[in-house]
Amino acid sequence: MAIIAPSLLSADFLNLERDVVMLNRSEAEWFHLDIMDGVFVPNISFGFSIIRQIRGITDRTLDVHLMITDPDRYLERFRQAGADIISVHAEACRDAAWSLQTIRQLGARAGIVINPETPVSRIEPLLPLADLVLIMSVHPGFGGQSFIESSLQKIAELREIRNARGMRTLIEVDGGITTANAPAIVSAGADVLVAGNTIFASSDPVATIQTLRQAV
Ligand code: DX5
Ligand code: ZN
Repeated sequence: MAIIAPSLLSADFLNLERDVVMLNRSEAEWFHLDIMDGVFVPNISFGFSIIRQIRGITDRTLDVHLMITDPDRYLERFRQAGADIISVHAEACRDAAWSLQTIRQLGARAGIVINPETPVSRIEPLLPLADLVLIMSVHPGFGGQSFIESSLQKIAELREIRNARGMRTLIEVDGGITTANAPAIVSAGADVLVAGNTIFASSDPVATIQTLRQAV
């Protein structure tokens, strides 16, 4: 069964506590928190204080996706705010190996993210330093976009490399995931599915999370 990571970017910020309490009752194991700086991506989301407040009302794994330029400046503060997992973009780091090692030294799990146009080969040498690889299946910056189909090949390619090397790196996929395409994404090799719009726009988010989790 896949790990489901609802993206709080699609939550109702006027009722954030209500949404977190709802997710606490669901089968979502991770909460996905999208941090955008308006430079690496053309959008600005939220920061430390929101993460800290969510940390205060949930025990679920906080999966922090940094869409920010030169993330090294802020790794320690994201960890202090309550991140369990911190993922950085290969395209945004000066030295991604250093970033991943630093995240692990801070006691968090480390993730490396690649944009749709970045090949898997770019991060292959980093695999021993990463607890997870996050494959973007939309251009980062906004929720509610359509899944880019060519992501399926990247997931399968990464799965093959991981298995051939006997590694346990998790494969997470982010963007445009629906109950309709989730089975194909899981059979391509995804371990973790991020979903924003599909969950929060649904009339029964808890049931939708269950459906996504059972996708095979
Ligand atoms: C996009 C973010 C995603 C986004 C996914 O930049 O990284 O996590 O919230 O949203 P949906 O599931 O609506 O595509
Ligand atoms: Zn994300």
